Amino acid sequence: IEQEESSYDYVFKLVVVGDSGVGKTNLLGRFVHDAFDFASKSTIGLDLTIKNMEIKGKRVRAQIWDTAGQERYRSITKRYYRGSVGALLVYDITKRESFDNLGRWLNELRINEAHPDSLVMLVGNKSDLDSQRAVTQEEAMAYAEKNGLMFMETSALESINVEKAFESLIHNIF
Ligand code: GTP
Repeated sequence: IEQEESSYDYVFKLVVVGDSGVGKTNLLGRFVHDAFDFASKSTIGLDLTIKNMEIKGKRVRAQIWDTAGQERYRSITKRYYRGSVGALLVYDITKRESFDNLGRWLNELRINEAHPDSLVMLVGNKSDLDSQRAVTQEEAMAYAEKNGLMFMETSALESINVEKAFESLIHNIF
């Protein structure tokens, strides 16, 4: 146990939240394994992924909780928001509804005691599907600014901005 503990300097918790089907599991899969799954199954409850990194000379261990977007798991997943210092709040740029629901997710993070200084990175995923776009970048940027969120558009499929989204969130936490 001692050895385990000395293998990193900091450990912290992140959560990935947003409507079902926006690509949360695939963003994590791209970030951690550089993989993408065309036929990924909807997450049941939640999954924990550990990612070890070095930031500013410190060994950092991120515990990243991939949560199910489906409503029926909400009562389970929201318990895991507690104490998280960062969240990736994901919508699908081709699904207007997933953008319209952002307020609900922000509210859930707040009332379920994410850390008070917790940072949120708003992520517009599936940027590869630009021809089916239902949310403009300008609108999302304005929403992020109004709510004090960072913002980035990503594609888990084409591996665009995925590392950047996770890493800028994590760097800003430190
Ligand atoms: P829940 O587990 O139900 O909350 O869904 P999720 O948000 O984890 O979504 P998931 O990662 O399972 O992806 C849903 C579907 O979108 C899958 O068919 C993915 O292959 C697809 N998908 C995910 N990311 C992208 C992307 O960047 N571009 C495109 N074109 N499809 C994507």
